[in-house]
Amino acid sequence: MDRNGDNDSLNDNILNGISGDSVLENMGEAILIIDPKFRIVYFNKRAENITGFNRGEALGKHCYEILRLYNCNNGCPVQNMINTGESFVDYCSELISKDELPIPVAIRFSILKNPGRSLSGGIIAIRDMPTKYRFSDSLKSAYSFQGIISKNKRILEIFEILPDISRTDASLLIQGESGTGKELFANAVHNLSLRQKNPLIKVNCAALPETLLESEFFGYVKGAFTDAKKDKLGRFQLADGGTIFLDEIGDISPSLQVKLLRAVQDKQFVPLGGTKTVKVDVRVISATNRNLEHLVKEGQFRQDLYYRLNVIKLELPNLRERPEDIPLLVDHFITRFNQRDQRNIERISPDTMEILLQYEYPGNVRELENILEHAFILCKGNIILKEHLPSYTIGIAGELEKIETRSDLMNQVETNTILSTLKKHNWNKIKTSEELGIHRSTLWRKLKRMGTCNLA
Ligand SMILES: Nc1ncnc2c1ncn2[C@@H]1O[C@H](COP(=O)(O)OP(=O)(O)OP(=O)(O)O)[C@@H](O)[C@H]1O
Ligand SMILES: [Mg+2]
Repeated sequence: MDRNGDNDSLNDNILNGISGDSVLENMGEAILIIDPKFRIVYFNKRAENITGFNRGEALGKHCYEILRLYNCNNGCPVQNMINTGESFVDYCSELISKDELPIPVAIRFSILKNPGRSLSGGIIAIRDMPTKYRFSDSLKSAYSFQGIISKNKRILEIFEILPDISRTDASLLIQGESGTGKELFANAVHNLSLRQKNPLIKVNCAALPETLLESEFFGYVKGAFTDAKKDKLGRFQLADGGTIFLDEIGDISPSLQVKLLRAVQDKQFVPLGGTKTVKVDVRVISATNRNLEHLVKEGQFRQDLYYRLNVIKLELPNLRERPEDIPLLVDHFITRFNQRDQRNIERISPDTMEILLQYEYPGNVRELENILEHAFILCKGNIILKEHLPSYTIGIAGELEKIETRSDLMNQVETNTILSTLKKHNWNKIKTSEELGIHRSTLWRKLKRMGTCNLA
């Protein structure tokens, strides 16, 4: 069997015994039978439903032309089976239907051999899977924009308008919980803009105390304060011609809000200790995981500054609201970590995916990324399993399991320590309890629990 040749006639043996009203025809699974040249010789009704192609279109075509699985171009499973001599494989993927939609599917391949034991073809059985099992593969590029991965409707809408948003110079405010990708979106807007060749300067407004932050924003002139030995440019000036990204904007103090208002509104400011106004041409993008509107209502954030920053607003949904992204992101991070660490992890098992789909993700995409990072360390094979996940993702049962193992481990360490100290002191319990810093009666109790009373 070889994908490249296509002159052989269809192998009639394969179809022996399969008639129009056969069991195969009415099965709930899509069934495709292929000849040794990967051409479809049988295609049941369910296959028509799932793929959208009718029998007339499919028969005689190569299976990879009709199924268009990610793996068709990237380690064809049938070819792998032939190469490895396996007769059966079972896995999950996505096929692309006739109208170009990704359909998550579970697939079984088996090899057909004729009585002489040579290959006569293969059977491909396909079940479409519930949407919660959307294992991603092939459509990564369709759901990826500037390195941001999503198939969520709201985010796809943002992808649509992002080029337009990027072309304007209007201030942009990005709101979203921690780890939802605010910085990724800020990068994307800059990269898509005409300012892209000029700098994108970031300032984390929560990371610096107020006085330092002011000089970070606007710079200072020599002699402005004791340590100001020479002029220093502020981030607004460094961003001239480009974009300034004010991260964690909800955290700046009221007095700095006033100064920032002028810079954002008039694109001009006076460096610390200076007398001359500096004019800059910057686009302002700000981000926060706090609700600025609430802060305005509570009087903690200036309304005028809020309006200036919020000419355009992007609100990023958290990961709990878009579980459909979880398999895509899992796939994305697996690919990234494989490249980074020279690993060869293929996928995660279905029950592991089930856990990831149910987890709440207070830390959103960053947390999912960390969970997979953890799994990569523990996974020694090429499929990530439940036990490779941090136990907190598994819920209370997982926590208890963890505590149990930890306390087992602690007991073991304690037992070893007690025994070696006893040995060192020739089984003298007074010296042992002194060295261990515990009372003799405590040592006695512990020895009893350890089942070593005879030593005590
Ligand atoms: N849609 C996405 N596709 C791919 N990677 C993502 C996506 N969203 C977030 N990430 C990744 O998750 C991590 C956190 O993203 P980012 O730093 O942009 O979030 P944030 O909203 O700025 O978080 P914080 O509020 O904590 O600063 C990064 O490693 C980023 O690459
Ligand atoms: Mg951030």
